[in-house]
Parts: sequence; structure tokens; C-alpha cells
Amino acid sequence: MPTLQSDTISASKSEAIIGLCATSLSEAAQKSMQNTRADGTEAVRYQSGFGNDFSSEALPGALPVAQNSPQKVAYGLYAEQLSGTAFTAPRAHNRRSWLYRIRPAAMHHAFESLAHPLLRSGPFKQVPASPNQLRWDPLPLPSSGQVADFIDGLITFAGNGDPALQAGMGIHLYIANRSMHERFFYDADGELLIVPQQGRLRAHTEFGVLDVTPGEILVIPRGVRFRVVLPDGEARGYVCENYGAQFTLPELGPVGANGLANVRDFLAPVAAYEDREGNFQLVAKFGGRLWSAAIDHSPLDVVAWHGNYTPYKYDLKCFNTINTVSFDHPDPSIFTVLTSPSDTPGTANVDFVIFPPRWMVAENTFRPPWFHRNVMSEYMGLVHGAYDAKAEGFAPGGGSLHNCMSGHGPDAATFEKASAATLLPHRIDNTLAFMFESRYVIHPTQFALDTPLLQKNYLACWDGLKKNFTGQP
Ligand SMILES: [Fe+2]
Repeated sequence: MPTLQSDTISASKSEAIIGLCATSLSEAAQKSMQNTRADGTEAVRYQSGFGNDFSSEALPGALPVAQNSPQKVAYGLYAEQLSGTAFTAPRAHNRRSWLYRIRPAAMHHAFESLAHPLLRSGPFKQVPASPNQLRWDPLPLPSSGQVADFIDGLITFAGNGDPALQAGMGIHLYIANRSMHERFFYDADGELLIVPQQGRLRAHTEFGVLDVTPGEILVIPRGVRFRVVLPDGEARGYVCENYGAQFTLPELGPVGANGLANVRDFLAPVAAYEDREGNFQLVAKFGGRLWSAAIDHSPLDVVAWHGNYTPYKYDLKCFNTINTVSFDHPDPSIFTVLTSPSDTPGTANVDFVIFPPRWMVAENTFRPPWFHRNVMSEYMGLVHGAYDAKAEGFAPGGGSLHNCMSGHGPDAATFEKASAATLLPHRIDNTLAFMFESRYVIHPTQFALDTPLLQKNYLACWDGLKKNFTGQP
């Protein structure tokens, strides 16, 4: 029988790191690190921090000491470096990990092109980008009789840039109802920021296992191999395939040393390996399309690893939301969780921004998001609840696109209500919207324009805005 060592953790380094972190983590992050979950199912354990130089071993002594590539690695493992940045990237930005694995990643059969019905990639030239404001209803989950795993269930709605130039992003949604047991995936074109909207995901990766629920995010770096298991059976969510620089934390400037997404609340996995052999499939996204190769073993066979290039998860409830305590409200950049910088300072390839539960206390202020036009282009999604700029029509699992300089803002009902509201302290609760905001114009795909999910009457949400101007103050 093949052995599955998904929760075998050494009693040395990994546990020591977990023990230290668990004493100082926020409650939400601590829950993620407990050995037994509330529902009694299998526990998943993590290490805390963002971009740390982590180390972890699933078997004692598997991790070489004081060097990366000894002549012989313990347990007969192979040493392999995974570089997420150029060798010569400045030290502060350099990301790489050393993996100690049963077989090198080169061991698989030749890749052949693999068709996919609705996955698309940059450069996005199927249809012209338009200045029209667009909004979509949620994707229905797979109907009975349909089966789709995380790869099958990817549907591209929009994107920009070009993976070959390492700039831009693909915006996908996924609907899935089948776990990946004999199929593995990696994306050479981009880093995957996965935002579950419905149903848990359990990602088995080369670095270990991560469990992610709606309200959390999962980031799989470029090139990292993984498979997705669906503990709840059905799952739906969003994916930002970031072709550009790796996501990092935004600078805090005058905010100070703390705030927004705090480093200690990011969780990386601990080493866990699969020693499985069989007729498996390795799927790669490379050069804008999928490729498939036969592989006779699980590539998730990393027994130990160290480095700062890892998958990670983050509970969005940990976000330290900052806003005005006087009047007006800051630009939504104050809600940036992660940013993928471009070569122009302060002008992101893509920002991941959230609109979480928060108190509104601004005095003499129109409190919802204001009307605006933006040189940046904005794709929005909704995990749960309602977004405070739209009274209706923007449903959990749906999406909207407001491109460069296209006007948008609160709908008529929201404007009327907010203009007349008594300005008491008010908590916006039960909501989690997010935005992928990019310096590059976002092109919808042919599917996104043809699908009946596209709301033909979206512009009508602003029709009811009255002319209040009378010429009198
Ligand atoms: Fe906007």
C-alpha cells in the first residue's frame, strides 16, 4: 500500500516554531494552528509569518544542517532548489526554497498540450476591452451528473498583460465538485491567489497541507505543485493568476509599524509528503495554455524543506482595518492586503483589496464608497453579505468590472439612503467584498461577454439618480 504521510511532523524544528508562534497569534490564526478542529476532522498545522526563512521536516534529521546540498542527503533524498525570483534579486526580495524530495521534479514523461474549454490566458485579445461597466451573476455550481475538479472547473472571466512578459493577471472563477487524487497541477505563468467563496479547499502541496475556508485566502507560488481536495464536496471561488511580481505586503508609511495585514497572521505549511506510485497526471500551465504529462508517482514527495518561497494562507478576519475617525474616508488603498508591485513605484501590477466588516463613524460625510473614476482598473467580487455601495444586484459569487476611467459608484438606492442617514456610529457587518485592482486595462473574455450571467441592465442601477441641482445653494 502506498503511504500517505500528510501529517507526519518531526518533533524538532517544526513543533518548536509552532509552539512559539501559537502564544502570540491572534485568535483566528491560533484556531488555524490547533491540532484538532472543532468538527473533529483531521488537523492541519502551520508555521507563522510572511516571507520568513522557514524550515520544516516530516522525518527527523531529513533537513541538512548548515548547508543546502550535501553529497548525500539523509534518507536517500534528492536536494532541489526552487527559485521564485532571479538568483540575483536583491536580498530583501529574493525568494527561494530548498526541497528534499524522494524524486527530483524532472522525473515525469513528456508534456503534451491539454485542451480546456474555458480557461484563457494573456495576452487577452479575444474581444476588445470596452469602457462599459460590467457585472455578472454568480456561476451556478456543477449540476448533477457534471463532475469537475479544481482544474476542470476554472473559467476565465477577464485578464490583462502577458505571462510571457511577467506582467498582468488572469481573473478566473472556479466551480468544482471532485477532489484531485491522481492529478497534480502547477502554474508556471503566475502565482495563484485563491479566494474561496463557497466550500472548503484542502490544498496538498509540495510544502505540506493547507486548509482554506471562505473568508480565508490561499496563495500558491508560481511553479509549486499541488492538488485540491474538496472536504465539503462542492466549492466555488475566485482566482487571481498573478503574472507579475510576487504578492507582498504593502508599505505602511505614516500608518506605522503595525496594521492592515500583520505578518504573524500568515500561515505556511509544515512538511508533509506523499510516497505514492501509480498512473498519475501532472498538469502545467505554461505559455498561456495547459500541458499534461504522465507521472508514475506523486510529485508531492518533499520530506523536508527550508526557505522563504512557500504557499501560505491568511484569514481575512485578521485584517486590522483602518479608517477615518474624523471626516471623509481614505482611498480604498487603505484596505490593501497584498500588492504585486510593477516597475513604477506605487502603481501596482495588481493589488488585492478587501472591504471587510468595520465601523463607520465619519462626521458630516457621505459614508459609502464615493463616485469616482480611476486610472487603475477594478474587478470586484463578493464572498458573502452585501457590498455597501450596491443595495442589490451584486451577489456573493458574482463579479463586476470597472475599467480605466469608467465612472462608477453607489447605486441610486444607496445614494438616497446614505444622503439621508443619521450619522451615528454604524457597524457594517456580515460582508466581505474584495477587489483585484490593476494598472493595466482588464479585458473580459468572450465567455464573459456571451454568458447569460452578464447583467444586461447593470447601467440601470444609476438611472434613478436624480438631478438635484436647482442653481440654488
Ligand atoms: Fe472603484
